[in-house]
Amino acid sequence: MTSFNAQVLQLASYTDMPHTVHEVPTKPYEGQKPGTSGLRKRVKVFQQEHYTENFIQSIFDSIEPQGATLVIGGDGRFFSPETVQTILKIGSANGVAKFIVGKDSILSTPAVSNIIRKYKAYGGILLTASHNPGGPDKDFGIKYNVSNGGPAPESVTNKIYEKTKTIKSYKTIQAPEVPLSKIGEFSYGPSKVSIIDSVADYVELLESIFDFPLIKSFLSSHAHEFRVLFDGLHGVTGPYAQALFVDVLGLPPASVQNCVPLPDFGGGHPDPNLTYAHTLVDAVEARGIEFGAASDGDGDRNMIYGKGAFVTPSDSVAIIAHWAESIPYFKKGGVKGLARSMPTSKAIDLVAQKKGFEYFEVPTGWKFFGNLMDAGRLSICGEESFGTGSDHIREKDGLWAVIAWLNILAAANAASPNKLLGINDLLYAHYAIYGRSFFSRYDYEEVPAAGAAALVAHLNAALASGSLTGTTHTSAATGTAFTVADIYDFAYTDPIDKSVSKNQGQVVTFADGSRVVFRLSGTGSEGATVRMYVERYVAPDAGDAELRRPAADGLKGLIEVALELSKLKEFLGVDTPTVIT
Ligand code: G6P
Ligand code: ZN
Repeated sequence: MTSFNAQVLQLASYTDMPHTVHEVPTKPYEGQKPGTSGLRKRVKVFQQEHYTENFIQSIFDSIEPQGATLVIGGDGRFFSPETVQTILKIGSANGVAKFIVGKDSILSTPAVSNIIRKYKAYGGILLTASHNPGGPDKDFGIKYNVSNGGPAPESVTNKIYEKTKTIKSYKTIQAPEVPLSKIGEFSYGPSKVSIIDSVADYVELLESIFDFPLIKSFLSSHAHEFRVLFDGLHGVTGPYAQALFVDVLGLPPASVQNCVPLPDFGGGHPDPNLTYAHTLVDAVEARGIEFGAASDGDGDRNMIYGKGAFVTPSDSVAIIAHWAESIPYFKKGGVKGLARSMPTSKAIDLVAQKKGFEYFEVPTGWKFFGNLMDAGRLSICGEESFGTGSDHIREKDGLWAVIAWLNILAAANAASPNKLLGINDLLYAHYAIYGRSFFSRYDYEEVPAAGAAALVAHLNAALASGSLTGTTHTSAATGTAFTVADIYDFAYTDPIDKSVSKNQGQVVTFADGSRVVFRLSGTGSEGATVRMYVERYVAPDAGDAELRRPAADGLKGLIEVALELSKLKEFLGVDTPTVIT
């Protein structure tokens, strides 16, 4: 192995060499279609000869890289460092002038979005499969983001896919490996490479948004009765959390756990939900921690979870919207509008209606929020898939959401001198004003694609013939009757660029306002994953006992009816979901 100094020397002498661009012949691979969030496949698939190179060249063929500045980062998963070197070689050969790369190939997804915007880069390539497990036998992913810092729109990803189908060669230069663990500026062939600290810009960003002095004073004055635990699940957020919670907020080092990023996430599934983030759930329960939180592999998702208190992502974004004024960023800039993805509960709509904000329902996928933000019509938004964020960047932002909650709790407590308010107090206060949208999602992961297609066909047939509309279904378990009001296939016309996205999920609405959504996941790497989202609204006058019931209880009847009318178990050949959130 070459030592670092030797590598730098090699690099220095290399810059004096003529830079020949080589054209390497290749053949198209099938199935390089970016999904909801980039191309995600098993590592072994990416390791096939020219597979990764083909996709990267197809990205460059779909954009205008000449003279551009490009950001490269990711969640540090297995196969990331090799892929950074591949991108440098191919990018340089395609005319990229400057690469900004996170140290050790690490940059969280929100950090990349921030860096693209802050340094006015042309775009960025993120090496992540988000919350999917990592390691030699698990998943890898490549995602392209555009100059507003957000995921590429479908017009770009479709173009990339088209290029992958006809690619005949890719361009590359010969160059020694760039030492990714050394911060600094390097000449690299005809280009420049800047290796940057992964954390600093992001911490500065959050400090400009939140009231850190208020949070710090609240946490230090309640050090024993309001303890914080953040779990990085060995994803990318570890160093960011260490900086924010320990260095900036002054919390004890034990306030963060699993905060060393690992290429295989320690063998875990880095997804912040009640099933996969069990290290957080177990520690919170065992130690009675008042405020716990976790983030996913690439740092854009979050879960808020304290002792005896779970915040659904749908409620979380509604509560942040309700309390927006307590966050300096929104106090100063105002709230321009609110939004959620279609399957997300309507809790945030109620906040918008009460406060007179404009609000939007977009398809699943953070990219759909970007145009609204760029047009100055959207400030706070969220998705049921544990995504929460704002227009400070163009990705969802896990640690932003966690700090938002701490800011809100600190503000609420500043106005409550006699009683320490925790997560549940905020939840119950919210339900008392707005009512509660009971919400749950059932995931059926890696089921046969044919079964999933049959389920969709069954729903579409009912939609076309109207055979289910008006029918009443009574739950055997609860005796509650639900009458189908409507079935439709969700389509969206972007209010800004008027682009149309069809087939975004089948929605069944009921006479009492309840709703069930069926949708195929766009992020899986094998087989099909079916998601069923259920929502039932209860008005504030239902009383505390009803409003505070466990979600599973409040939704029991509706779930039974949804499974029956969709014949989901028959089509998928499974009895129970893989994950319930
Ligand atoms: C990614 C996107 C999210 C989206 C989610 C949906 O995480 O960034 O915006 O909500 O995928 O995933 P699914 O598996 O349901 O398509
Ligand atoms: Zn993610």
